[in-house]
Amino acid sequence: MTVRQVRVRAACPLRGLVRVPGDKSISHRALILASQARGECRIAGLSRGGDVRNTARALRGLGVALGPWGSEPLLVRGAGLGGWREPGGVLDFGNSGTGIRLMAGLLAAHPFFSVLSGDRYLRRRPMRRVAEPLRLMGARIFGRAGGTLAPLAIEGARLAGIAYRSPVSSAQVKSALLLAGLLADGETSITEPAPSRDHTERMLRFLGVGVRTRGAMVSLRGGGEWAARDLEVPGDPSSAAFLIAAAVISPDAEITVRGVCLNPTRTGFFEVLRAMGARLRLTRRREVCGEPVADITATSSRLRGIDVPPELVPRTIDEFPILAATALFARGTTRVTGAAELRVKESDRIRTMAAELTKLGGRVRELPDGLLIEGGHALRGAACTSHGDHRVAMSLAVAAGAIRGETRIADTACVATSFPEFWELMRAVGARLTAERP
Ligand code: S3P
Repeated sequence: MTVRQVRVRAACPLRGLVRVPGDKSISHRALILASQARGECRIAGLSRGGDVRNTARALRGLGVALGPWGSEPLLVRGAGLGGWREPGGVLDFGNSGTGIRLMAGLLAAHPFFSVLSGDRYLRRRPMRRVAEPLRLMGARIFGRAGGTLAPLAIEGARLAGIAYRSPVSSAQVKSALLLAGLLADGETSITEPAPSRDHTERMLRFLGVGVRTRGAMVSLRGGGEWAARDLEVPGDPSSAAFLIAAAVISPDAEITVRGVCLNPTRTGFFEVLRAMGARLRLTRRREVCGEPVADITATSSRLRGIDVPPELVPRTIDEFPILAATALFARGTTRVTGAAELRVKESDRIRTMAAELTKLGGRVRELPDGLLIEGGHALRGAACTSHGDHRVAMSLAVAAGAIRGETRIADTACVATSFPEFWELMRAVGARLTAERP
């Protein structure tokens, strides 16, 4: 459902048992790795968000045969390692940093010309972080602003493995290099300041490709083909985070989210919530395609503000908008530092969250690399905007559901990039939301 504007009123009690759609990061990787496998693979539980759909479209543009979008499971006919064909047009990744950066890694090693672009938000986001190390491997990548912004043009070349020390912890950079490394001569290794999400490594191992991890260093050797294997995508913890937060900040609430991926590189938000006093229970722990999974039950909780340890930042990275919204309901101050990366996400999430939460009556201060949120003050509904950022829109909707008065959130169509089912699921647990399509 594409929704342009949403009106939210307080609702209680929020209760229910829900399942969130497949993890967005894992969905991109499942499609990309299935397209480079030998043989046919079925992917179950794929995210239906616009970002993943754009990756599927780009793969079709590269000659990969895929089942109709939305079929469950989705069939992908692998083209084999290095088997993509030159696209006839521009590959459009929409809003997706993951799509464009991961695919750039593989395209750099395919012997043809390709152009990669996206929407106005994506065209503002930094591409130097992937283009530069790929060039060190021998890639020929061009782009706006001295080769640092999309559209990017790539002339495939023969690549050689490198040992790269990345200045940022970024799974997109790490994955782009690992994927390029699959088609490069020799060994490719990447060392990060702190380990970022490791879904690419886990899925490659699940498919039988050797990947070594030592602390924050990951490496693989080029050339090893793999046979297709059916894949299942577990529930997205970054989507579950909104429902969990809604339960924690609302009176008399209890929400269970089934089948959530609990990869330790993704659980920072749940750990921070617990440290703030949230009541969370994990049950039915299991493993799906090399990823740990469990059901999470969250109950209304009395929260206190904390200093978020900077070492938790990479593992919490997509949850800072909802964490900032949640911190409005805690007693005392919550301090986030060491999170300057938030400034180059779908929006500058430090600036946009400070501005929007202030409109709701929150006391929020921008720091160069984080936020200070003073919780426990009176909040009231207001007119807000998402700034075109899906996670900002959903965080505002969750906060608005626990305060007095009506909140109007403008520019909410972006939610469909990651979590088109969000509004429906929130309503299913009792939220009072009115969608408008002017
Ligand atoms: C992602 C990595 C993270 C994250 C993004 C998804 C991925 O970005 O914020 O939503 O799937 O690899 P960075 O690599 O820029 O940290």
